Amino acid sequence: MKTDPTADVPPRPIVVLVSGRGSNLQALLTAASDEHWDRDLQACIAAVISNQPRAGAIDVAQKHGVAVHVVDHRAFSSRNEFEQQLAVTIDLHQPVLIVLAGFMRVLSAEFVHHYAGRLINIHPSLLPSFPGLNTHRRALEAGVRVHGATVHFVSKEVDSGAIIAQAVVAVDPDDTEATLAARVLQQEHRLLPRAVRHVLTGRVQCAGTRAVLRDIAPGELSLLSV
Ligand code: GRF
Repeated sequence: MKTDPTADVPPRPIVVLVSGRGSNLQALLTAASDEHWDRDLQACIAAVISNQPRAGAIDVAQKHGVAVHVVDHRAFSSRNEFEQQLAVTIDLHQPVLIVLAGFMRVLSAEFVHHYAGRLINIHPSLLPSFPGLNTHRRALEAGVRVHGATVHFVSKEVDSGAIIAQAVVAVDPDDTEATLAARVLQQEHRLLPRAVRHVLTGRVQCAGTRAVLRDIAPGELSLLSV
């Protein structure tokens, strides 16, 4: 009788850090519920950690039966103490990958260094343009013709680090901040699961300021919706 050699291997844990509504978390959970994901990657979303006790992402996680931890930054007297508790909570799950999916706290260089190469973030702009907040408004103010989203390895500078994948969205002349944000978000939901998949397969690895790609089809990590 043939036996599945991977049958007894527990799935590799991923931890997702959130602060808000959780639509990117939902996109990841949807991708992870696909049987191919399970079979090809042998990974699962083991836990969600929110720094906001009322984040919508908590409901998203609970609906999928995923463990939720709240580590409220306001309960700590320093960033260092907050990060220590965050690290303890992350390490409970021994994750192979930590995904910042709308996590709105800046992390220290020490924290980032500790998880180097397995900490990734999604940012709603085509980095290195528009790091920081209000990216859609700033893109409209700058009059750019294309905008988008980036998934990158986290480095000690905010919204920088080796780029894994990008999605490009055309800016329409009559776009408002809301319409542009909505179109970028749609692309984020395609981009993030794809980037996570390729990091988990080892096809994308962090090598300093750039990511190294191996056996990746052209266009796989650059989505164009123009
Ligand atoms: C997304 O636009 C993400 O790029 C940014 O924060 C937003 C989070 O949205 N970092 P959601 O909580 O995933 O819906």
